[in-house]
Amino acid sequence: MAGLEDHAGDMVRKSRVGLGIAAEEVATLLGWSFSALKTFEDEGVASATEAWQSVCQQLDLDADKLLAILQGWEPSSVELPWLTKIETDDGGMAVNAYLIKDPQSREAVLVDTGWSYPALKSYLEANQADVRQLFITHAHGDHIAALTEIREAIPEIEVLAASQALATNEPLKAGRTFSCGGLTIAVHETPGHAEDGLTFIVTENNGPRFQAALVGDALFAGSMGGAPRHFHLAKEKVRQVILSLADETVIAPGHGPLTQVGWEKQHNPFF
Ligand SMILES: [Fe+2]
Repeated sequence: MAGLEDHAGDMVRKSRVGLGIAAEEVATLLGWSFSALKTFEDEGVASATEAWQSVCQQLDLDADKLLAILQGWEPSSVELPWLTKIETDDGGMAVNAYLIKDPQSREAVLVDTGWSYPALKSYLEANQADVRQLFITHAHGDHIAALTEIREAIPEIEVLAASQALATNEPLKAGRTFSCGGLTIAVHETPGHAEDGLTFIVTENNGPRFQAALVGDALFAGSMGGAPRHFHLAKEKVRQVILSLADETVIAPGHGPLTQVGWEKQHNPFF
């Protein structure tokens, strides 16, 4: 298990900044120095303090869930036969792209680009994937870094994004659906972390109807993407669009491990 994208210090900082609470205020509540709080926000290591409950209340974080993260909670591993996570690294930061491939028809789509095309290419070849479309969760640089390379390598690819600047045709809006062999991909809007944030919900048309939500940075295992300006909107959309899905729905975030809706409801301190 590769570990969570965020540690407990990241979670405290994201909530604090999202709610507009000064670091000094949190440090005072905890009985810590300003620099001790900063070290915690940077490193995520702390022992329990008596003030933990009231600080979490101020920060709108669930104290028990945050303590479980401090003690090393991670989601169990989970997989779906038609979903491949492709983690790419630029030497400092890792970002996930995803390959969705219908096993029968080999029709396939990519979700986000990762840092570079060579990292994706080996997966496409190994999976004999016939990629026709590239869906973009949001236009932050790490999620579209290889867009030019992909357009050069697969000139016929259709880019589907909420951002007019990226989309091949009309920008994507909530309510549109696409087919990929025996899978249906439904578009939902999850702004907050990014203004153009989209979540793609993929459902099997037949059989057990397993489902995945490709959420970009709206939600991470145990955490969420930073939303300093639209924190309440970001959380509201995650609740409405993602956490309302069936507990077994696989969540495929832009960073960190796969998780499930039920596990996030039980363990994510933001919700
Ligand atoms: Fe992002």
